[in-house]
Amino acid sequence: MILSPSMLSSDFANLQSELAALKQAGLTWVHLDVMDGMFVPNITFGPPIIKAMRARSDLFFDCHLMIREPGRYIRDFADAGADLICVHAEACDHLERVCAQIAETGAKPAVALNPHTPLDVLRYLIPQLSMVLIMSVNPGFGGQKFIPFCMDKVRELKGMITAAGSGTLIQVDGGVTLDNARELVEAGADVLVSGSAFFGHPPYDVRHRAFQDACK
Ligand code: DX5
Ligand code: ZN
Repeated sequence: MILSPSMLSSDFANLQSELAALKQAGLTWVHLDVMDGMFVPNITFGPPIIKAMRARSDLFFDCHLMIREPGRYIRDFADAGADLICVHAEACDHLERVCAQIAETGAKPAVALNPHTPLDVLRYLIPQLSMVLIMSVNPGFGGQKFIPFCMDKVRELKGMITAAGSGTLIQVDGGVTLDNARELVEAGADVLVSGSAFFGHPPYDVRHRAFQDACK
């Protein structure tokens, strides 16, 4: 299991030391939540902040774009240093084109689905995706409760990926805790995002180990 801590719950005034602390704690991924105040009712940060973070960190930047028509900004996020760019199916009129755009930049293409969005929209796209993100809360804020039906959605997606013979990873984001991590991994999750349940419980090395142990 890869744990990708969501910087949304980190100390925004000390991004450099937060990133260094994650590295020190043995994390390899970090989840960056970009929000535009349109697709979701909240605003966070964009390419300039990611670029500044990139200059101070070699962690794998897992960028979750909660913005409308993200195709307008793919080049900007890739140039800023995103390793993986995840766009919402609900935010793109031409999702296949946006995924191809991401791949062209050299970043890994991924698609996120809101809790209510059926998996079917990805049926033809799975082979070209590095990762699918299953949102297990309605996006926009940290600290929300896991929506139970998302567990079945992960299981069903795992079946689709296996049937397609693809190496696409499954990420789960929203309300992930020590209590549901194991069941999520058993259902097929490869990458777990955690914001409040991670950053709210320092030291990070102990918390990282607790998540890994919970999944054993
Ligand atoms: C929510 C974001 C998440 C959020 C998760 O819109 O996409 O990444 O930070 O936070 P927790 O783990 O607190 O639910
Ligand atoms: Zn996220």
